Amino acid sequence: PEAPAVTVEQTLAIIKPDAIHFADEIVEEIKSRGFTITQKRRLRLSPEQATDFYAEHYGKMFFPSLIAFMHSDDILVLVLAKPGAVQEWREMIGPTHPNKARQLSPESLRARYGTDQTRNAVHGSDSYFGAEREIRFMFPGSKSSGDM
Ligand code: TYD
Ligand code: MG
Repeated sequence: PEAPAVTVEQTLAIIKPDAIHFADEIVEEIKSRGFTITQKRRLRLSPEQATDFYAEHYGKMFFPSLIAFMHSDDILVLVLAKPGAVQEWREMIGPTHPNKARQLSPESLRARYGTDQTRNAVHGSDSYFGAEREIRFMFPGSKSSGDM
C-alpha cells in the first residue's frame, strides 16, 4: 500500500493596499518565520471580487468602506505553507484592530503596519476550511492542498 500523502497546512495571506508599499519587507519577514510561499499574485481587486471575497461580512456597517479600501490599490496575495500555518499566520498578523494589536501584540504585523480597523495592512484566513475557500478563490486553477 502507498504511504499516506504528507499534507503541510496552507493559509491565505494578503498584503492589503495600505501596506503594498512594504510588500518586500513583509515577504522577507514571512520567509524568516519559516513559511514557504507556494503561490503569489499581485492584483487589484474589482469591487465585485472584493464583495465576493468578504461575502461573510455583507450587510455589516463597515462593509462599504471595506470594499472601497480593498479596491483602492494593488494587493499581494500569497499562499503560505507550514505545519500549523493557519494559526501561526493569524498570530503573526495580530488582532483585527491595530490599536488592540499594539496593546496585545506589539511585534505583530498589524501593530506595526496597520492604521485603523479597516486599514489593517494584512489578511489571514481564520480556519482550515476558510483557507481552502480563499485559496480556491484567489488561485482558481490550482490544486487543493490535499493534492500536494
Ligand atoms: P474580520 O473578519 O472581523 O477580521 P479579520 O480580518 O481579523 O479576520 O473583518 C474582516 C475585515 O473587515 C478586517 O480585516 C477589516 C474590516 N473591518 C472593518 O473595516 N471594520 C470593522 O469594524 C471590522 C470588525 C472589520
Ligand atoms: Mg476574518
